[in-house]
Amino acid sequence: MIAVVYEVGRYRALLSEVVGVGDVVVEIGPHICKSTDAYVSKASKAVLVDKGSDCKQDLIEYSSKHGNVEFVFGDARDFSTLELAKKHVLSCDVLAVDLGGGRFPDTVFKVWGTWSGVFKPKHSIIRCRGIAEFLKKAKVMDGSLPATFPDSGWLTEYGRGTPVEMKNQLDEFSHWVKL
Ligand SMILES: C[S@@+](CC[C@H](N)C(=O)[O-])C[C@H]1O[C@@H](n2cnc3c(N)ncnc32)[C@H](O)[C@@H]1O
Repeated sequence: MIAVVYEVGRYRALLSEVVGVGDVVVEIGPHICKSTDAYVSKASKAVLVDKGSDCKQDLIEYSSKHGNVEFVFGDARDFSTLELAKKHVLSCDVLAVDLGGGRFPDTVFKVWGTWSGVFKPKHSIIRCRGIAEFLKKAKVMDGSLPATFPDSGWLTEYGRGTPVEMKNQLDEFSHWVKL
């Protein structure tokens, strides 16, 4: 399943519903862990990734209090951050992405697309208003495409990527924005 939401309460509620006992979760953008609190008691491992200097200390303390939590301080648009996360887990059951509900949908999609291609989650939960609006408006009008795609939390196209291709995908960010 790939779920897209905007309202932060709904995001946290979905995390609580979707994460099962013993699941491995990669969460990008936990901030001060209000979303992490929704599932941390059920997860066998949670890898939290955030670049915020305002929440860095909270995240260090949170991970030291919870034996199943690892914190990676870094920008999810940077391949080196992805490599740090891969030191903790090689795949996950749930990938959650909340860079801020109003963030540019292209940025959120690219971060989610690349990270999900690496960790191949069963479920993804993405918080982004722009992607939600796009999904509400868009209609696929091409009969050559399959009627349905496999139910998973990642895209087959991205999943075929090698680490080098994944790196290239994230390196492209440097052409758009200053990291
Ligand atoms: C709206 S807050 C997340 C709120 C949290 N999920 C909750 O439910 O309370 C967004 C977080 O994403 C982080 N963030 C934004 N862009 C990021 C990026 N490129 N890489 C890593 N973290 C990022 C910010 O530092 C911030 O902590």
